[in-house]
Parts: sequence; structure tokens; C-alpha cells
Amino acid sequence: MKKVIAIYPGSFDPLTNGHLDLIERGSKIFDELIVAILRNPEKDPLFSLGERREMLESMTERWDNVQVDTFEGLMVDYAVKVKATAVLRGIRAISDYEYELQMALMNRKLEPRLETVFMMPAEAYSYLSSRLVREIAQLGGSIKGLVPESVEQRLRAKLDPAIKFQPTTKTRGRKK
Ligand code: PNS
Repeated sequence: MKKVIAIYPGSFDPLTNGHLDLIERGSKIFDELIVAILRNPEKDPLFSLGERREMLESMTERWDNVQVDTFEGLMVDYAVKVKATAVLRGIRAISDYEYELQMALMNRKLEPRLETVFMMPAEAYSYLSSRLVREIAQLGGSIKGLVPESVEQRLRAKLDPAIKFQPTTKTRGRKK
């Protein structure tokens, strides 16, 4: 039977519990899900690509059909390269819809064989975004429950260099 490979592209700066919720949902409906972190040299991210990859790898270890990778250039080109036939995107609120619709239709124009699949995260995460997490953490607010504990530790260590980040679990090498 044909295996359905999907990619879940994004910046993941940083990974939030909303992303993880979506990854879990995606892992249930696709045979293989590749979380693809955008390598964008123009952006100045809070976490380096390596840090984002490490966080995602350690938090997705529990799902055997989930892999983490990075890409640059057009998302549709990357999807073709890894033989994905679907793109997973999360829709939190109506406000996401316009941008996501535009992107999905443009991607369809570029690569008609690729389908965009929208999924909704749990309501508890409907107001959550990486941008707000960064802003709250930078201003000293609590981000408990919004990101995994290890990401919270890394954020604190990044924003207050006096705190040293202590990884609690070892990340193992993952299949590509
Ligand atoms: O985390 P984000 O910012 O919601 O992710 C946006 C992302 C990475 C999915 C989007 O910017 C993207 O696909 N970028 C790659 C370049 C590309 O293909 N651009 C054309 C989009 S129609």
C-alpha cells in the first residue's frame, strides 16, 4: 500500500506545546511526518537552527514515525525531494485562515501534486504562538504550560546567561 509522507514546515523559534499537539495529531493520520525547520539566512532567530533541531528531536523521540529535518528555498521543492504528498499546517483561529489559504493556494499553483492539510490544535493552545512566547519570556513573564519544560529552561538560559542550561535527557541520533 502507498505510504503517505507529510511535512510539517515552520520556524519553530521556539517549539511550543501547540506545535507538539499538532505533531501528535499528524503522526496519527500520516504514515510518516517530517517536521521541517526553515533555514532562513535573512531572519535573525532567537534559537539557532541547531538548537531548534535539538529541541524538536528530543521532544518528538516518542513518535516512531516522526523525523526532524531542515530545509531552505521553496517548501514545495523540499516536499518533492523527500517524496511528501501532503503539508500539515495548524489553524488556530479565523485570523490564521487568510494567510494559510493564500500560502496553500500558492503552493498548489507551484506544485499541484502536494495537498495542504489543516488541523486544529487543542483549544488550550488556540492563542499560543512562538512570537508571543518569545516576547513574554523576554519581558520576564511566565511561559509555564506553553512550551515543554526543557524549552522553558533553554529560554531562561538564553535570556539570562547566568543560568546554565542542563540537558535532562540525551538526544539520540535519528534516522533521516
Ligand atoms: O513558522 P511559520 O512562519 O508559520 O512557517 C512559514 C513557512 C516556513 C511554512 C513558510 O514561510 C515557507 O514555506 N517558507 C519557505 C519558502 C516558500 O516556500 N515560500 C513560498 C510560500 S507560498
